[in-house]
Amino acid sequence: MFDELIPLPDGTSYNSYLIKGDEKTALIDTVDPTKTKDLVENLEELGLSIDYVISNHAEQDHSGSINTILELFPDSTVITNPRCKDLLMEFHLIPENRFKIVDDGETLSLGDKTLKFIYTPWVHWPETMVTYLQEENILFSCDFFGSHLATSNLYVTDRCKVYSSAKRYYAEIMMPFHTMIEGNIEKILQYQVDLIAPSHGPVHQDPEFIINAYQEWISDKTENMVVIPYVSMHGSTQIMVDYLVDVLIEKGIEVRPFNLSRTDIGELAEALVDATTIIIASPTVLTGPHPLVVSATYLTNVLKPKLKFASVIGSYGWGGRMVDQITSMLTNLKIGLLEPVIIKGLPTDEDLEKLDQLANEIEKRHLEIL
Ligand code: FEO
Repeated sequence: MFDELIPLPDGTSYNSYLIKGDEKTALIDTVDPTKTKDLVENLEELGLSIDYVISNHAEQDHSGSINTILELFPDSTVITNPRCKDLLMEFHLIPENRFKIVDDGETLSLGDKTLKFIYTPWVHWPETMVTYLQEENILFSCDFFGSHLATSNLYVTDRCKVYSSAKRYYAEIMMPFHTMIEGNIEKILQYQVDLIAPSHGPVHQDPEFIINAYQEWISDKTENMVVIPYVSMHGSTQIMVDYLVDVLIEKGIEVRPFNLSRTDIGELAEALVDATTIIIASPTVLTGPHPLVVSATYLTNVLKPKLKFASVIGSYGWGGRMVDQITSMLTNLKIGLLEPVIIKGLPTDEDLEKLDQLANEIEKRHLEIL
């Protein structure tokens, strides 16, 4: 469970890269505190002294071992940008005299190798930057273009697997900032990049593959797809969801239902990258939506997917304010609300007709914009 927040069905890696020049040696990013021992053992095996610790990003999964490295190499200096320095000082109490600040575009010579620092704010924190090894055209991108994927292969070997892991990672980490990412990709495209070495997951030998994928994900384009996160307690909402899924399939619309009492929330996030419409389906619990539906709705709102339309379906026993409570949680999204279908008890033929009407409306709206 990454950060006690995101399930990691395929694991992850924390990548730290050592660059040895003929005069100086730099370590790009450290690792999560839980992996400090592994990093130190690997460095001991190499028997090198470290002059610079490059910090592309202050989040603890990449900065959590900096203090250990600074203790092991007392003459080493942390190289980073001003915002990252402030955060590192606050997170790890690193004294100010251990830092050297670099400007956007500034270079650092290791002798026969040169590192260039490129600010890429908001992928996915305000201080994020990437490091470019000029002589070998390698971009060390930290979280940018990364994937939560543990593999013994250093490089991407299974593109389908990495595409899916990177997309899921994008959905969970980067999607809320997708409008900022476009400018940062343009900035990177000014350089000849032969390898992208992220700090999670394998290294990209074909940078175009992952850059194209990002450009597709951040574009305005959505797919003819409906996502249905749902919970059913006593079967009524399940009948509604099953019925709506079938009607939408008959119309040629891709449907992705997610039973929230069992689903991996990361898969829901990944589906939201492409979906045009979300239908949130819930039974009524104590006059409101099921808590799992509240959680998924909150997550959808903060992830800021490109969704265009939304609606609510579900059931109640004696009353409730479920629709208002769900729609009031979607304020980050620029969506058109479609007529909800809320029923009492088991669905009747009349209720199912309302779902037919909702499906017709979804089809009509999708045809208008896709
Ligand atoms: Fe992999 Fe934002 O840390």
